[in-house]
Order: sequence, then C-alpha cells, then structure tokens
Amino acid sequence: MKRVLRCVRCKKEYQLNKQGYTCECGGLLEVKIKERADLTHLKNTWRNRRLSNKAIDQSGVWRYKEFVFDFNEEEIVTFPEGNTNLYELPENLLDVRKLFAKHEGENPTGSFKDRGMTVGISFAKKLGYKTVMCASTGNTSSSMAAYASRAGLKSIVFIPEGKIAYGKLSQTLAYGAKTIQIKGDFDDAMKAARNIAQDYKIYLLNSINPIRLEGQKTIVLQLLDQLNWEVPDWIVLPGGNLGNTSAFGKVLKELKEFGFIEKAPCLAVIQAENANPFYRAFKTSFKEFAPVKAETVATAIRIGNPVNYEKALKSIQFTHGVVEEVSDREILLSKMEIDSLGIGCEPASAASLAGAKKLREKGIIKQEDTVVLILTGNILKDPDTTINFHLGNIQGIPESLLNAPTLIKNRQDDIRKEIERILEEV
Ligand code: F0G
Repeated sequence: MKRVLRCVRCKKEYQLNKQGYTCECGGLLEVKIKERADLTHLKNTWRNRRLSNKAIDQSGVWRYKEFVFDFNEEEIVTFPEGNTNLYELPENLLDVRKLFAKHEGENPTGSFKDRGMTVGISFAKKLGYKTVMCASTGNTSSSMAAYASRAGLKSIVFIPEGKIAYGKLSQTLAYGAKTIQIKGDFDDAMKAARNIAQDYKIYLLNSINPIRLEGQKTIVLQLLDQLNWEVPDWIVLPGGNLGNTSAFGKVLKELKEFGFIEKAPCLAVIQAENANPFYRAFKTSFKEFAPVKAETVATAIRIGNPVNYEKALKSIQFTHGVVEEVSDREILLSKMEIDSLGIGCEPASAASLAGAKKLREKGIIKQEDTVVLILTGNILKDPDTTINFHLGNIQGIPESLLNAPTLIKNRQDDIRKEIERILEEV
C-alpha cells in the first residue's frame, strides 16, 4: 500500500525517506496509508500466518504487515518479536466484568520497544544508514542496541545520569551500544540526541520517529486479534514520551476507517504524579501544555516534556479517552499485586493498574466494562526497586506486604523451625 509522511498539523506530505521528523511548520509527522482498501479479509490471513515457520510470519509485528510496512522479507531485521500473552486477570482486582493484561515485557529485549524497533532498524538499514541513535530511560536503548547488533549497525545512546534501572543499563552495554550519560534528565538527553542526529545524519530511533510508531500499532492489532475482535471498553497504558498513546490512537482510527471495528475502545493514559505534563494538559482540556521537571520511582516514564504531545492529545480526543495520575506508592502497590500473580512487571507498567483502580473508584471505568491493561516492561528490568520494596526500604509500605528473605543458622533445628512457621502461615 502506498504510504507517505504527513504533518499532523498542516497536512503537508513528504516522501517516507525525508530527513528529520518534523514538518516545516514545526508539526509532527505521521505515516499516512494513502490507499483505501478492503482489508477485512486480512483477519483470516493474519491467523493463517501463525501456522508458518517463516520468521516474518512468526513475528507478532510483521504478521500484521499490511498495517505496518511494505518491506521485502530480506529487508526485515527481526528476532522475531511481538508474540506477547494476553492474560486474563482476576476481575476482583478491579471489580469489572473482564480484566486482561497484555504483557509487552515478553518481547525479546523485555519491553514493547521491540515492536517499533524491528521496523525502525529495518528502515534505517534500507536507507543505508550506518549508525542509529536514541535518548532513553533504558528500554528504547536496550531494544535499539539489540536490533542494531543484529543488523550490523553502530548504535549510540544518550541516557540520563543515574536514573536508569540496572537491567536496562546492563542490556544496553552488553548488546554493544556506545553509551553516553548526560548530566541531566531524559528531556536533556532527548534534546541532545535530536540535535546530534540531525547534524551528523544519524538515524534517530526515538518515538518521534513516525516509522517506529507503525510497529507499536501492532500491540493493539494483536490484542484485538486475541479478543476475537471483540472491542474492549478500555485500554489502559502508562504514558511517558507518549509514543504508544500516539500509535494506539492512530491504529484505532485506521481500524475504524478500514471497517475492522465500529467503535474504538477508550484510551486511559496514566502518568506518575510528579511526571505528569499530559495529565495537567488534559485537565485544561488540552488548552495549555507546559513541561514539568519529572521525578518518579517509575524511571521509564520519568519524562517532563513528551515529544509526542501533539499526536497523543488527538488519540485521547478520538477515543474519548482520559488521562489520570497516580502516586509512586500507588504504582508500587499495584506492581506488587501484578507481581504476586506470578506475572510481574517493571514499575512504569504497574501505573496501568494503579490508574485503572483510580478511574474505577471515580466511576469512570464502570463495573460492566472490559478492561485491558498494557504491561510495558518485564519485571527483571528493575530488580532494585522490587528488592527495595520487599526489604522494607521504601517508606509507607505496610510490613504485611513485604516478602523479605529470612536469615537463619545452617542447623537442622533452626531450619525445621522456620519451615514449620512457614507451613503454619495463613
Ligand atoms: N513503559 C515503559 C516500560 C517504558 O520504557 C516507557 C518508555 C513507557 C512506558 C512510556 O511509553 O514513551 O510511549 O509513553 N520508555 C522510553 C525509553 C522513554 O527510553 O525506554 P511512551
């Protein structure tokens, strides 16, 4: 299908290989599918591809390639990614009709970023770039580093000094990205990466890159496929740089235009309360937007000036969605609940459940609703936060919720006594 880049503000169109990611007018660019085709037969094609052993059919991104990109098979850099489970959760966790969690932490590098990265890296390679770059709170960098290695490209990463979870830093270094720590926060790192990428003609793979977002649309495509195209009432996701929010709104609009669904689910975007510029803007009905200095335990979404704001607000408006904020304590308590189901996630992901709870309490999410939570990252991304929680190092968490290891002497009597104590516990 024919595709172009189009400005979301003034609608000016550009070739897909345009350098830079913004229009002359300053607006963000998005990929526009130009041909209107009857795509409804694709639901069966997508199912049938699952029977194939080809890597591109096994990929939960490229299986939906009609909505992603027209690449030849040999141009695609894939692991493959994107086959993530949709778990049914106990409804009483939220007191709703049905509750699901789509676990994007089950991707090859442990976060949803792989879905966009397979597309972005394939495109970088096709365009002949030798080096790719991003600023990151850790997941984009892990993903980019892995895909760049697979593609034989050099990767350079800007990260905020200190505030990056160890799982993510270790992946980024191990997969071979040249890593530059900026004395500053993510927003400073983002600015540096944008300037440098432009000056040195390096391919920038942050979510400001519209090509990358085409891959992230498949989270929604796949979850609807997994629900047999029965549209849920809500999709709840954490919001940081607002790439997913933008991609989700975009694909829901396309699905409606192409006749796949009659009504889009409402998007609920959840931010940490000290990293909440999108929430603040929502409160002014998007009349005002001001960046904030961000701080939160959920370092993945410690972002004060989201680059995709302009697209994300359209997603909220199109889906009649909402934006909510939650405290770090609410995030950690929700994480503990998800972890204790044996599913687990990193802190930012748990903002989905924390926010859904708040919206349920306010009666915005209703008891008869079906809700899908997006868990964006794997529990192993941020082991320090999990350990600190269970060791009681985080203030305000009741002791009854902790699960610290006990230390006993290596003596039969002591071991037996401890086992008996555990067996008696209710
Ligand atoms: N959840 C996780 C685990 C993330 O890593 C991110 C973003 C988000 C949520 C927010 O998603 O930006 O689409 O609103 N992480 C980026 C990174 C910023 O650098 O890894 P968003």
